[in-house]
Amino acid sequence: MVDLSRRKVLISGGALGALGALGAVAPTQARAAAAAWTWPASGSVAGSGAGADPAWVWDAEADPVVASLFDRGLVPQVNELLWNWTRNDQPLPAGLPADLRDFIEHARQLPSWADRAKLETAAQFNKARGLYLNLLNGVGGGMLSTAIPKEARSVYYSAGGANMEDRVAKTSILGFAVGALNAYRPDGNCIVNAVKTRLTHAGVRHLLPQSPNWSGPVPITQEDILVTWHTLPTYAMRKMLEWKVPMSAADSTAYLHVWQVTAHLLGVRDEYIPATWDSANSQSDLVLPPNMGPTPEGVELTDILLGQLAEQTSPGGVGRPLVNALARFLVSEQVADWDQIPHEPLWEGTIKTVWPVLVKVREGLIPLPLVPSIAWTIDEALRQYVLFFLTKGQETKIVIPTGNRPS
Ligand code: HEM
Repeated sequence: MVDLSRRKVLISGGALGALGALGAVAPTQARAAAAAWTWPASGSVAGSGAGADPAWVWDAEADPVVASLFDRGLVPQVNELLWNWTRNDQPLPAGLPADLRDFIEHARQLPSWADRAKLETAAQFNKARGLYLNLLNGVGGGMLSTAIPKEARSVYYSAGGANMEDRVAKTSILGFAVGALNAYRPDGNCIVNAVKTRLTHAGVRHLLPQSPNWSGPVPITQEDILVTWHTLPTYAMRKMLEWKVPMSAADSTAYLHVWQVTAHLLGVRDEYIPATWDSANSQSDLVLPPNMGPTPEGVELTDILLGQLAEQTSPGGVGRPLVNALARFLVSEQVADWDQIPHEPLWEGTIKTVWPVLVKVREGLIPLPLVPSIAWTIDEALRQYVLFFLTKGQETKIVIPTGNRPS
């Protein structure tokens, strides 16, 4: 644990009041106070664990190292040194502080349970299902994350909140790294970007509590990371099953595996990483509901994100209405309402009708002439979305933030 007793965290916050005032559903702290963590570690990749509540666990290895970099004024220099550290097999640059070097050398190791064959299968699956996955993780995951009060507020009040273009670009770097064919091969970059993200999160834990806009416990607990994790693979898998995307058992297991390894590299303890889809679904059902709800920050971030998408993707000039409808289509009514995504009855109806057709076309289950022409407008919008996220990610790199959003 970082140097944070539970008492200190509680005192620092007034978190319950703050979140309550924003109208969020019962926040994490309520569960921590009221009931124990019930998800069984026997369902994790570790197979057992101490049973500590992840709502009160942060990153015991990364946090002290990064806090000390701040204390020594070394963050800008470290960011510069790590800028060209990009490949999984690349040695670290000379000149890094010894404690950081030791941390990264340890953090970049794949867990003993990582299975190279499964990672290769996952890479092929990610390629074959790229369109669905990019849409679900990029747009769907984005809309879900803005309906997670702690995440929305963290993003809003951190440096990236003031520049959402850059923030989207940086976040998509990891998304594409996970989905790349060479993700975990020596010439890939997923290990590097996951470890850099772990350092960034440690930076946020150090910085945000210093923001005048921040109240509440230190952000990005292990539970918070699990919550977001479920908005990525767990949500995507549920959606693909709902859409009747055909897939083999080996593909489904491999897709889970690549995200298990990624969770480990992001600093999630093995005792919290679900071992199977069943245990993932049960953990998701446990952690998501109490951690989701509306916030003014989430509504504003949603509007910015959808505005950006509409700007980039206006096939046939339909622009924002189609973007709104697609976003609503990807998440539940409740989440869409929390995010205050405007209703677009015409487009919403159209998407519901043509989406199953488009999936069948992609899967080779029906011939092209049976596809209504409006479906291609939507298909084109999807391609534009994916392109948007793809190109964004090439413009920048993940670095440890050096400050919060200017107030
Ligand atoms: C930064 C991914 C969980 C808040 C990042 C970055 C990535 C990322 C790739 C680097 C991009 C950037 O600097 O903007 C993930 C993944 C997660 C996760 C894959 C879980 C599986 C969370 C959670 C929170 C959070 C739970 C908050 C509750 C932030 C913030 C930044 C960040 C505030 C830095 C923003 C800035 O200052 O620019 N995350 N994240 N993340 N993440 Fe996460």
